[in-house]
Parts: sequence; structure tokens; C-alpha cells
Amino acid sequence: MNNHEKVKQLIEKRAEASLGGGQKRIDSQHSKGKLTARERIQLLLDEGSFEEYDMFVTHRCTNFGLEKQVFLGDGVVTGRGTIDGRIVYVFSQDFTVMGGSLSESFAKKICKIMDQAMLVGAPLIGINDSGGARIQEGVNSLAGYAEIFERNIMASGVIPQISVIFGPCAGGAVYSPALTDFIIMSEKNSYMFVTGPKVTKTVTGEEITTEDLGGANVHTSKSGVAHFKVTTEEEGLLLIRKLLEYLPNNNMEDPIVTPCTDPIDRLEDSLNEIIPEDPNKPYDVLDVIYAVVDNGEFLEVHSHYACNIVVGFAKFNGMPVGIVANQPKFYAGVLDIESSRKGARFVRFCDAFNIPIVTFVDVPGFLPGSVQEYGGIITNGAKLLFAYGEATVPKITVTLRKSYGGAHDVMGCKQLRADANYAWPTAEIAVMGAKGAIEVLEGKAISEITDPEKKMNFIKEKEMEYKELFANPYQAAKYGYIDDVIEPRNTRFRIIRALSTLSTKRDSMPRKKHSNIPL
Ligand code: HXC
Repeated sequence: MNNHEKVKQLIEKRAEASLGGGQKRIDSQHSKGKLTARERIQLLLDEGSFEEYDMFVTHRCTNFGLEKQVFLGDGVVTGRGTIDGRIVYVFSQDFTVMGGSLSESFAKKICKIMDQAMLVGAPLIGINDSGGARIQEGVNSLAGYAEIFERNIMASGVIPQISVIFGPCAGGAVYSPALTDFIIMSEKNSYMFVTGPKVTKTVTGEEITTEDLGGANVHTSKSGVAHFKVTTEEEGLLLIRKLLEYLPNNNMEDPIVTPCTDPIDRLEDSLNEIIPEDPNKPYDVLDVIYAVVDNGEFLEVHSHYACNIVVGFAKFNGMPVGIVANQPKFYAGVLDIESSRKGARFVRFCDAFNIPIVTFVDVPGFLPGSVQEYGGIITNGAKLLFAYGEATVPKITVTLRKSYGGAHDVMGCKQLRADANYAWPTAEIAVMGAKGAIEVLEGKAISEITDPEKKMNFIKEKEMEYKELFANPYQAAKYGYIDDVIEPRNTRFRIIRALSTLSTKRDSMPRKKHSNIPL
């Protein structure tokens, strides 16, 4: 072969690799409304930035005649490229090659780019579309998964890891995405479960569809396994680009501050009116968030799951922050098992990646009842408490209305090392609500009044007395637990000024192997 022929051979080999499992299978992929592994990468990355690794890798298995089924690249496209000019590493499983099933070589390719991503401190993006372990490879495939899991674990808290599910993701294969920071699922075609519908029926007798067992709706609203649901693959890939705007490249860097066009001292008069006179009336905390953040842009995470707490990313004067807010519109913003877990996970993510946390509090307390107690609200509520108390990033807490009991302590109170604690004049910071407090404090006196009208008047009077005394921010401000009571319309400016001051904050934890968060 002369040099000319050698170049020609290279070009031919590249063309062969880029076809994956062949045109027929590509057509079949398209007919299901799915993009191919390479098309997905093209849409994700900056144009022309992708550099592929290991295009010529093949499997080494000879079981079940597999030596006759050899495809260049072996079912996964891996490499690096840029998103808005920042380096990211990406793998994209290719369903056209043996259903995207994972072989030893396939796993090695993924591990190689994971190692590279860790070395240079760049985010890792995994696009999943696979039939799981390549059955013919047996334990080599299991070992391959475990190699990936171990790297997911080592990379956790070091580089952001984002998973997308654009097809099957079943069996033990689910645990790689589960170990990453964010999971995005497409509404059509994608599912995740440890055990599929067939085995479920055999073992438990339960009949259930793939969609109902592990579709995007289930995982973004019921289980909370996935953080985002998208209608199309294009939307999912654009979402990754958006998400990365708020994240640093790694845990040694700060998130990137961008120029801000929204005036930092913008007064938002609507906020002076947003809290209803009736303390039992809800409002939408998203309206508060939209009003204060740069250009009203808020990327909500887990928006369909545990809606009584809102978490997500926004910017203040171009600086990315994580926002946590109780949502009075859902269950009065009460803390329960799911919302505590959701909040805790988000706070820990922000802390790991140097993203300041801004908390808006309007919480009546923890949800009472046997369901919550049997489900372990103690342990789960403690997760959120632990996450806030452990976080060393700048923490700003703004109490909008209720902040009662244990929930007050949990939601970024001063003693959990919050740096700036503000309250609106409408704040009610106390051990418990007036009704409950009067029942305890005046129970004996109430039981001694026989006339129903007199009893009601007595209760009302005592409740009013309690409210006057405790349902305000000034008791807490008196002790310095609240740094300042601020005019609601000025909230944006006060947050920005605090964040700017805190940008040089350095705080640390005592030396230890790791903490023992109540899992
Ligand atoms: C080898 C596989 C495969 C696998 C699919 N294929 N899954 N080959 N190992 N795991 C091949 C098929 O034989 C087929 O090859 C091609 O990929 C496309 O598959 P189809 O079945 O035609 O596609 P579709 O109808 O869309 O169904 C997709 C599917 C189904 C639902 C994923 O293929 C399936 O159920 N696969 C098996 C899933 C499974 O049990 N995996 C192992 C789980 S255990 P041809 O040549 O005919 O086109 C596991 C453990 C991980 O993953 C443990 C980690 C710790």
C-alpha cells in the first residue's frame, strides 16, 4: 500500500466508523424519532470542536460468534469538545451497534475520557441509549460497568457530571447516571429501571408498562431520580449548555461571572405587595425569584418533584447562585421527606462546586403524621439541616413570611453559619404558629371556659396577643439572628451587595475523612 492508498484507507475507516451499526440501523433509529450518537454530539458541542477518541477500538469477544460482528468504535462515541468555548468531555452510546450494549472495550473508552476529564478538570457529559451489559461478554461487561461507577464516584464533587437518557437504561446500568449530578430524560423513548416490566411481573405479579415503571414522567415527578424532562432530544442537549452556564469547570474554580445588563439597584415595587394580608393565603414564590434575579432568568431543577420546595440556578449581577425557596403554593411550603431530600441534594451540589446559596424562607414547619414519621422525616429532615450546616459557600437567607419551629433552624438560619440573614417586615419567626402555641400555653384555661362564645373570644384574644408578640421579625432581629429587616422591593440590591462582599469568603470544615450525613 502506498502513502496515497494509506490516506485513502484512513478516510474509508473513518467513514465506516461514523456509520456505527450501518445505514439500516441508523434509519431505524431515526424512525423511532431518535438521533444517532454522533448527531447528538454535534448538537451538543460548539460547531467543529469535537475531537473523537478511540474511533478504531473494537471488542475482543469471541463468544456466540461475536468475532463476526465487529464495528469500529464498538458502540460508543467518546471524545472532547467545547461548550461556549469551555472544554467538556462526552460519551454518547450508539444504539445502532448491538443496541449500544456495553462491552469491555466500550467501558474502557468511557473510562479513558473520564480519567482525562478528571486530569484537566472539565465537566463530563454522558448520553445514554443502551441495552445494558453486552450479554455475550458476561462478567467482563459487569467489570466494565464497575470501572465506570468507580470513576463516577471519584469524580463526584470534583467535576460536574451530567447524564442524559435518550433510550433504554436498565439493570445495573442505571447506576452510572444515578451517581452523577444531574439526569435529563426525554419524554419519548427513554426509560430507567433496575428491573423491567417482564421480570417485575414474574417476581411480583405486578403488571406495568415500561413508561409507567421508568419513563421520564415517573422519574421527574414520583421518584425524583431525574432532574429534568424534555420533549425533544434537541431540547435536552440545549439544556446541558444552559446548565453549564451556572457551573464551574471543577471544584477548584468558581462559577463564571458574566456581564450583567439588569440594574443591580432595580427596585421591585410588586414585592412590597406580594405577601397576602391573610397569613393562610398562598402566593407563588417563583414570582419573588423572577423579580429579584438577573433578567428574570431562573433555571429550575426538579421542577415537577416535591414542589413544596423550589431549587434552581440564577444569577445576581452576573454571578451564578443556587436558589432554595419554600413554595407556599404547594402544601403551604411545608417541609416533608421528599422536599428535604431534594433541598439537601441541591445545597450539597452547590457547596461542592463553590456556588453561593440564596434561600427564601416561608415555611410553616414540618409535615406532621404517621406517614412522615414512619418514612423517616427525622433522618430526611436532618439531611437538609446537615447540608446547610456543612456548606461553606456564601449563604444568604431572606425570610419572606413564616419561619416556624425546627423548619426555621433548618432553612439556613444564622447558627448554621449563614452569612447574611435578612427578613421582610412580613416575616413571622417563632417557635410555632399562634394556634398551636395557645393550645399548649392556655390549654387548661381554655378547658375551664364552658360558654362556647366566651371560649372562642378568649382563644382569639390570646392568639392575637401571641401574634403581636412573636409573629414578626423583630424578636429574631433583637437577638441578632436576623441581621436586618429590609424593604421587600430592595431585596435584589441587598442580595447583590452581600454576595459581592462574600465573594472572598473562605471557610472550611474540620479535618475528617468524610462526614456522616444521615443517609
Ligand atoms: C447484546 C444486545 C443487547 C445486549 C440489545 N442488543 N441489547 N446485544 N447485549 N444487552 C442487540 C439486539 O440483539 C439487537 O441486535 C440490537 O441490539 C437491537 O436490539 P432490539 O432488541 O432489536 O431493539 P429494541 O426492540 O429497540 O429493544 C431494545 C431493548 C432490547 C429493550 C434494549 O434489546 C432488550 O431488552 N435488550 C436486552 C436488555 C437486557 O436484558 N440487558 C442486560 C441487562 S443486565 P440485532 O443484531 O438483532 O439488531 C445489565 C447488567 C448491568 O445491564 C449490570 C451493571 C452492574
